[in-house]
Amino acid sequence: MKKTLEEHAARFDEIASEYDDDGSEEYRACASLVIEHAAPDEEDVVLDLGAGTGAIALALAPDAARVVGRDISDGMLAKAEEKAADSGLENVEFGSGRFRDPDYDGAVDIVTSNFAMHHLSDEEKREAISVIADLEPRTFVLGDVMFFGEPDPSEPFYSPEVDDPATVGVLADAFTDAGFSLTAVERVNDQVGVLVAERTQSGGIEAVDGETGLETSGGE
Ligand SMILES: C[S@@+](CC[C@H](N)C(=O)[O-])C[C@H]1O[C@@H](n2cnc3c(N)ncnc32)[C@H](O)[C@@H]1O
Repeated sequence: MKKTLEEHAARFDEIASEYDDDGSEEYRACASLVIEHAAPDEEDVVLDLGAGTGAIALALAPDAARVVGRDISDGMLAKAEEKAADSGLENVEFGSGRFRDPDYDGAVDIVTSNFAMHHLSDEEKREAISVIADLEPRTFVLGDVMFFGEPDPSEPFYSPEVDDPATVGVLADAFTDAGFSLTAVERVNDQVGVLVAERTQSGGIEAVDGETGLETSGGE
């Protein structure tokens, strides 16, 4: 992480009141893809991490049983709560929590995150994906800044002083190692995309036994 959690939280506290006024075409495309792929049904509990002012959580709540949003910025959370109250949605709640400690231990069917995880280092993203896998969601939809090609700070969405995006390959490895399979990869542009991961097992690496040719599970 290029800045501390407190520094990131303070940065978003400062812009919380205007955050919803901005939003590039790519950000909107990414958010729409996250919402489309999450597609909860009326029995699903959704956990949205790095929820910000609630763009994803509030869009999913009308179709889900319950949506829980977590973020490190009190300012962003206050705005999300205000919007939830205005919308009259009663099945959505927001609170403090971070990727590697979401402070939520209920059942989760779908985890979403949009434009937030790129603040973590690659090792921290791995830890976060592993913590999320332990919650046993069936699906994790991650929209974020991620590199499909060579990182290019002169292009939008990547400011090396605050951001730490991963390559799509690093994220794919982290998902696979945590027991997910990628079922969709959506490239919004060279530095923004959406990955859809379905949980296939409780962790470990699948391998093929050299003698029998059968798949073996490499540990739980
Ligand atoms: C660019 S905003 C995106 C908000 C929202 N997901 C959206 O699509 O509009 C990034 C959010 O991630 C939050 N964030 C940054 N690091 C985080 C962490 N380690 N854990 C949880 N949230 C984090 C920030 O506070 C901020 O609200």
